[in-house]
Amino acid sequence: MSSENYSFETKLLHNQHKVDPATGAVSVPIQHASTFHQFDLDRYGKYDYARSGNPTREALEDVIAELEGGTRGFAFSSGMAAISTAFLLLSSGDHIVITDDVYGGTYRMVTQVLTRFGIEHTFVDMTDLDQVKAAIKPNTKAFYVETPSNPLLKVTDIKAITSFAKEINAITYVDNTFLTPEYQRPLELGADVVLHSATKFLSGHSDVVAGLAVVKDEELGKRLYSLQNSFGAVLGPQDAWLVLRGIKTLHVRLEQSQKSAIKIAEFLAEHPLIEEVYYPGLENHPQHELQKSQAAGPGAVLSFEFQNEKALQVFLTNVKIPVFAVSLGAVESILSFPAKMSHAAMSQEEREKRGIKNSLIRLSVGLENPDDLINDFSQALHQVKEKLLVLQQGE
Ligand SMILES: Cc1ncc(COP(=O)(O)O)c(C=O)c1O
Repeated sequence: MSSENYSFETKLLHNQHKVDPATGAVSVPIQHASTFHQFDLDRYGKYDYARSGNPTREALEDVIAELEGGTRGFAFSSGMAAISTAFLLLSSGDHIVITDDVYGGTYRMVTQVLTRFGIEHTFVDMTDLDQVKAAIKPNTKAFYVETPSNPLLKVTDIKAITSFAKEINAITYVDNTFLTPEYQRPLELGADVVLHSATKFLSGHSDVVAGLAVVKDEELGKRLYSLQNSFGAVLGPQDAWLVLRGIKTLHVRLEQSQKSAIKIAEFLAEHPLIEEVYYPGLENHPQHELQKSQAAGPGAVLSFEFQNEKALQVFLTNVKIPVFAVSLGAVESILSFPAKMSHAAMSQEEREKRGIKNSLIRLSVGLENPDDLINDFSQALHQVKEKLLVLQQGE
């Protein structure tokens, strides 16, 4: 049976790098060498210098390429390094149509850096395909999708966007950080470049910063390899090994976290102190059906909104189990405050335009027992109710 026929969870373990051919080791060796001896003046070996190629990094690149259904993978020193390098496929004078609900670091790269190099952009609500079409210009060369998006969990129709792109010979980038290839494989839906902050679910343990890119088209692969080597923001071998190790348990982690996320989202949606829950796994999410049609699950990240920032603050100071931190996709649940964390690069005005309020909190569900999390949230919400009553009485 070739590995192509294996189920996804089997592929996570049984791939071309499951055994080191030199020693039989069942863990990919960490190759620290920065340079490689050449035995012949005219014929160099496969590796010469570690920025251009390193066997441990290459193992990770092969593994992610196979999992995403691509031909070539690339590992970078962070998700932003992957995204920024992939943007270098564009040239001065080009225009990007980009989703307005996008990770703050990507927003900063597009608005503050690419503009200086003559690369234009238009932000659109990608859930509205008419807006996407209307934003296309004669110099549009790329569409940038993040789905589900950070932090409002909007879902974009990947197939529809890639069909627009193909009509005008543009490329489609998809940031697949929230779902990973476990639940969503954008290349199969026509995307050209899949991007990851591998810092998140792929590695999964809050112990490494890494980024990945995958392409299907071989020509595009050659261009991206040249950019990875030119820009040089490559992932070190130790970190590549940590991501490889994390990937082995991706299925069990994500399945468990998603199951808990569904339960927690339902609990929050019923709670009178929660104004809104953003989670594509809820039936009343506006793109619930689309999500089901293009992904195998809604994932383990959700956002929810309080009545006001004060209520959010009381909740945060009373909640005990999740860490309050920048990041997501880890074994421990993480609460973050988009306005001051992931989206601090956006001005208050830009955030408001997008509906990212100061009363919004994002939750990445980890591997704790969901009932413990729900009990913890219940007691913190009880504190919110008490404090709000005291405040109202003082008015
Ligand atoms: C959706 C998304 N894309 C990209 C990034 C950037 O990745 P990194 O922090 O690894 O540079 C993040 C980080 O939070 C993210 O949430």
